[in-house]
Amino acid sequence: MAFTVAIDGPAAAGKGTVARQVAAHFGFGHLDTGLLYRATGRRTLDGLTPIEAARALRADDLDAQDLRSPEVAQAASRVAAIPEVRAALVDFQRAFARRDGGAVLDGRDIGTVICPEAEVKLYVTASDDIRAARRHIELTGKGHDITYGAVLEDLRQRDARDSARATAPLKPAEDAVHLDTSQLTIEEAVAAAITEVNAARKT
Ligand code: CDP
Ligand code: CDP
Repeated sequence: MAFTVAIDGPAAAGKGTVARQVAAHFGFGHLDTGLLYRATGRRTLDGLTPIEAARALRADDLDAQDLRSPEVAQAASRVAAIPEVRAALVDFQRAFARRDGGAVLDGRDIGTVICPEAEVKLYVTASDDIRAARRHIELTGKGHDITYGAVLEDLRQRDARDSARATAPLKPAEDAVHLDTSQLTIEEAVAAAITEVNAARKT
């Protein structure tokens, strides 16, 4: 049976971490939809047009090693504002969301556009400085040479662009449960999300 958990929120709020662990806990599939936009943006850096890049996207592209850099994140956020790019990626996401056995998708528009009927919707946030500090630790740990200030700037620019765009902007669904992870450990954030899923499964 299909059961969809939609997780949205601004950059580096903890969406992916929560999504991955909730999926593992319940045995659901997990799709990090940011990777679709990152892989599309990555290919525009090689000269493809955004629409060509989105239409040519293949599952293998999501495994590319260099998708996590801030340069690729910025390219992702630029292509993500183009309605035809988003349209090219909708069917794949919806099919994943309704697969048998349950699915967790994290992104910006999962609860609002991709899966408005999701059984559980979470809107994950954290303060700007905490998100930047966490992402800075993550990136430097992976060998990226980047300052805290540059990470903060990347997050703020993308959040502003993602919130202001006309098509599928970053915003909470009206019926989303808000989860501020600023003062939560990963374990606490995951436990709060699991509680929401369990509550929805009982109804
Ligand atoms: O997917 P999203 O960009 O929203 O965030 P993430 O990649 O899941 O989390 C960003 C960073 O914050 C990762 O390095 C997580 O390990 C860390 N994190 C944390 O320290 N505490 C939390 N409650 C959630 C995430
Ligand atoms: O991990 P982080 O939160 O920093 O970014 P991401 O989730 O990998 O998303 C990268 C960019 O893709 C975002 O800044 C958005 O512009 C775009 N995106 C989107 O528009 N819609 C989604 N469902 C997921 C990502």
